Amino acid sequence: MGASYAEHISLIQLSRRESEIVVVSIFVNSLLCEPNSDLGQHSYQLDEVYKLCQKLGVNAVFSPTKGEFYGQEQTVALEQSQNLITQVLLPTTMTSVLWSQQQPEYFQNLATIFIKLLNIVQPAKVYFSQKDYQQLAIIRRLVADLNLPVKIVTCPIAREESGLACSSSNEHLTESQKAQAQIIYKSLCRVKQTFQAGERDHHVLIDALKSELTLARELEVKYIELVNPTTLIPIVQVKTSGLLVVAVNLGSTILTDNILLLNRKPIVAIDGPAGAGKSTVTRQVAKTLGLMYLDTGAMYRAVAWRVQQAGIKLTDQPAIAELVSQSQIYLTEDEKSQSGVRVWIDGEEVTKAIRSPEVTAKVSAIAAVPVVRQELVKQQQLWGAKGGIVVEGRDIGTNVFPDAELKIFLTASVAERARRRLQDFKAQKLPSMSLEQLEQEIQQRDFTDSTRAISPLQKAADAIEIETDSLNIAEVTELIVSLYHQRLYTSVEV
Ligand code: DC
Repeated sequence: MGASYAEHISLIQLSRRESEIVVVSIFVNSLLCEPNSDLGQHSYQLDEVYKLCQKLGVNAVFSPTKGEFYGQEQTVALEQSQNLITQVLLPTTMTSVLWSQQQPEYFQNLATIFIKLLNIVQPAKVYFSQKDYQQLAIIRRLVADLNLPVKIVTCPIAREESGLACSSSNEHLTESQKAQAQIIYKSLCRVKQTFQAGERDHHVLIDALKSELTLARELEVKYIELVNPTTLIPIVQVKTSGLLVVAVNLGSTILTDNILLLNRKPIVAIDGPAGAGKSTVTRQVAKTLGLMYLDTGAMYRAVAWRVQQAGIKLTDQPAIAELVSQSQIYLTEDEKSQSGVRVWIDGEEVTKAIRSPEVTAKVSAIAAVPVVRQELVKQQQLWGAKGGIVVEGRDIGTNVFPDAELKIFLTASVAERARRRLQDFKAQKLPSMSLEQLEQEIQQRDFTDSTRAISPLQKAADAIEIETDSLNIAEVTELIVSLYHQRLYTSVEV
């Protein structure tokens, strides 16, 4: 809606990066909305939208008329204010708070339209911005409760340079109002700092936001709430996470924004196949951002080494289970070693031994044993419980830390990965196989890692894929660090 498309462009770009086919559906909820809602003020030029979509690589635009969408009979009924459409009943806890106080029927109607669009377009994934958080939370609930066959991807809020959340409403602001509107996001960031400094009480956090906002002369607070991000139920003390939501009036324009308060530092998940440059990049990213580094592959390697030492056969799963449940793995960062980590298992240092061709040949099979994964995932989650960590592996974004703030999927062609591995062997003066054998080995490992029954190597729906064939380590690192700043809003001066 409206002529400001920045938010939609960012959703399209994200889905373009991750999907084979991108469909944009456009339907303005004019029949089901409140007569005096601000939907009436918006207009959009379809021709302009089509051109923009074409430029962004969209495969199809679905923009039905009201008649096409509802059918003639329903359209006539709706025009006469008779709502005869089948509705699903949303939980009242989610539809009695926040924006529902302005437009009580809004989300009920949105759910109907969402389900209709979903059934017509039948996408694998749908992209929503975190900006309309209540909408996102309700849609997530709807999809989970009714087992709708779709993945909901959450996208960060698109912001103007000043930090103001992009919205078609921004066009209605005068220059002076626009300058005042910047205070909304800046105040949210300040309250987040207060939260990060240890404050958890809703009164204190909400009052802090209110008093920041009073600095803008024309700005009038409509509501500020601190809610559970999943259920939208107001919370008194933030335990694991909270969502601070604000709506204000600036003149006759309503602006909304929100910020997530997570009771831990950020997590970056870097997944991808062997040899895509994950280890070096992850170490560099961790160092640049001042975060901890965790190489989960080294943990699987340590177990593979231990199984080999103990002379246990790969088929003897009960013996492997017993061994892994009793083993103590210990990792420390080590700038001097080639791999960047020193590794101990059951008191013995295995930093070098776990990189041997024998361990490398066995590790995929060990990593496919369910009990090994269960045990190591548990340990990895403990390492990351407080956040502030960059973790590399195969299932980090999909399984170990599905709510990581930033997920990266690093890839490179098999030929390029084999070439890099050969170079590594030469640099370390280790005996190596031929390039052809290395390619075969990599292919085999990709196959085992991506076809195993539990937690296969897979790109998370919300991960950003980076193909590294033509990029060097510094370029990949820089890219990830800049994505981190974008995602975590830390690039905005507060
Ligand atoms: O990244 P690497 O080559 O050191 O990993 C060794 C093996 O461990 C690799 O074949 C896949 C497996 N692995 C896994 O299954 N899950 C992880 N999170 C990390 C590694």
